[in-house]
Amino acid sequence: MEKFMTLIEINAAAEYIRSKTSYQPEIALILGSGLGALADMVENPETISYKDIPHFPQSTVHGHSGQFVIGKLKGKVVMIMQGRVHFYEGYSPSQITFPIRVMKLLGIEKLVVTNAAGGIKRSFQAGELMLIDDHINFLGFAGNHPLRGPNLDEFGTRFPDMSQAYDREYKDKARSTARQLGIPLHEGVYCCLSGPTFETPAELRFMQTIGVDAVGMSTAPEVTVARHAGMRVLGISSITNMASLDGEHQASHEEVLEYGTRVAAHLKELLLTLLPQL
Ligand code: HPA
Repeated sequence: MEKFMTLIEINAAAEYIRSKTSYQPEIALILGSGLGALADMVENPETISYKDIPHFPQSTVHGHSGQFVIGKLKGKVVMIMQGRVHFYEGYSPSQITFPIRVMKLLGIEKLVVTNAAGGIKRSFQAGELMLIDDHINFLGFAGNHPLRGPNLDEFGTRFPDMSQAYDREYKDKARSTARQLGIPLHEGVYCCLSGPTFETPAELRFMQTIGVDAVGMSTAPEVTVARHAGMRVLGISSITNMASLDGEHQASHEEVLEYGTRVAAHLKELLLTLLPQL
C-alpha cells in the first residue's frame, strides 16, 4: 500500500526540528551526490540527524549523508539537507518529498535544489554546471506523482500550476552571478527518471529527442511539492558524466561522485555569491 504522508506526521517532524534549533531558517538547500561540502561553510552549525526526526525517510545511498545542517551562511539563516532520499530506494513519492513540507511548516519559502546529472546535450562536459530552466517529471508521467493521493489543502490547491516551476528572478540572478564569477553555467531541461539503472543508449536518444538536456534521479518531485506550497525554487545540476548515446562509455556511481566533487568548488562559489541575493 502506497504511503501518503499526513499533516500530523509532517507537523510532528517540524515540531521536533523546532525543538532542536534556535534558528529560524529562511532558505533551504538540498545538496546532491558528492555536493555536500557546502555544509562545512555554515557558521555556528546545528546538526539534526534524519534518523532522530519522527517519520523522516532515511538515505541509504553512499555519498548522501543524512542530516540537516542549520546555521548562518553569507548572512542568511539556511537549512541544508545533506543528503536526500530517492524513489529507487523504495520510498513513495510522498515520502521523498516529505522534507519539503516539513520545511514549509518551518516557515521556509525559498528552496535551492542541486543534483548530479548525466549530460545529454552534446555541448555539455562532465564537471560543468547546468541551471535548471525547466523539468520533465517522468516519474509523475508514469503515475508516481508526488501529489497523488489526498490533497493537503493546507499546502496548496488540488491542481497546481507548474508554468514557472523554477523562479525566473532566481534564474536571472544565477546567470548574472555566474557571468560575474566567470563560472560557465549551461542552462537546460532536467528530466527525472526512477533509476537506479543508468539509461540505455536507446533511452538516452529518446530523452534527447524529447528535449531533455540532463537526466537524473531526483529533484522534480521535490520541486513539484515546493511549488504546490508556493515556495520559490532555484535548481542547479552538476553534470557528473556525459550520457553515452552510442553505448561506448559505461556510467558508474564512482564517476558521478568523483565529478561531483570536482564541480563542487564552482557550485559552492556560485551558491555562496547567490545566497545573499535570494
Ligand atoms: N543518469 C541518471 N542519473 C544520473 C546520471 C546519469 O547519467 N549521472 C548522475 N545522475
